Amino acid sequence: MSVTAVIAAAGSGQRLGAGGPKAFVPLAGKSLVEWSIAAFRAAPSVRSIVVACPPGHVHDLAGGDLGVVDGGATRAESVSNALAAVDTELVAIHDAARPLVTPELIEGVIATLADDPDAAGAIAATPVTDTIKRVGTTDADPHDADPQVQCNVFRSSEARNALHRVERTLDRRRLWAAQTPQVFRVGALREALAADSEALARATDEAMMIEAAGGKVLIHPSPPENLKVTTPFDLRVAELLLRQ
Ligand code: CTP
Ligand code: MG
Repeated sequence: MSVTAVIAAAGSGQRLGAGGPKAFVPLAGKSLVEWSIAAFRAAPSVRSIVVACPPGHVHDLAGGDLGVVDGGATRAESVSNALAAVDTELVAIHDAARPLVTPELIEGVIATLADDPDAAGAIAATPVTDTIKRVGTTDADPHDADPQVQCNVFRSSEARNALHRVERTLDRRRLWAAQTPQVFRVGALREALAADSEALARATDEAMMIEAAGGKVLIHPSPPENLKVTTPFDLRVAELLLRQ
């Protein structure tokens, strides 16, 4: 099986607040993106790697065997830019924000997709351990990186009530937290991404677009260690795990 890895590394890392793009922040001896590159290099099914880089950082990675492209204003744009350079049947999309990815996990997700000819994608995911409450509004996104947006939400009592009022509790037995890598048949992914630019702007992963197009996406169970570095707390946890 021949796979191209696309690593989304073009974010600015606002919530980490390290003063530069998150993918290039040092972590236990190398940058976040270099940890992911090393894992994909060690995965036997991966033939080539394309990294979407933030402005001004393309030269940090250029010159070797990596494909390097400019990222876009959104994660979806960055992935699309990199996807243009993919010529294999399968693509593995990965966030540089997950530096603890392993070759075993990468190969596992690829094998899950390869074993099912009907499936368009397979994604690393971990069972949700918290009890998940659903609130009655989508007006406020508690994950928004813009402090001004958060500020506006908490100033308005109407928005605050809607945000804090529990609508219902979801059945945890059916809930999985999606991670990366996410592996797709390239044709199906290209079709799904071309479908609807508004939906694309809202999508937080590629699998959502395949699901919306009616495609079959499979879960591949992944360990909780494959954590996403978003805040300084996450960076400290990742550092401890990588130094072990
Ligand atoms: N990403 C990207 N291009 C963008 C935005 C994000 O390639 N325009 C990548 C990031 O580099 C990261 C992944 O998408 O590896 C997940 O995004 P996130 O964790 O939100 O990273 P940032 O956008 O950098 O962080 P923040 O939202 O805190 O600014
Ligand atoms: Mg972001």
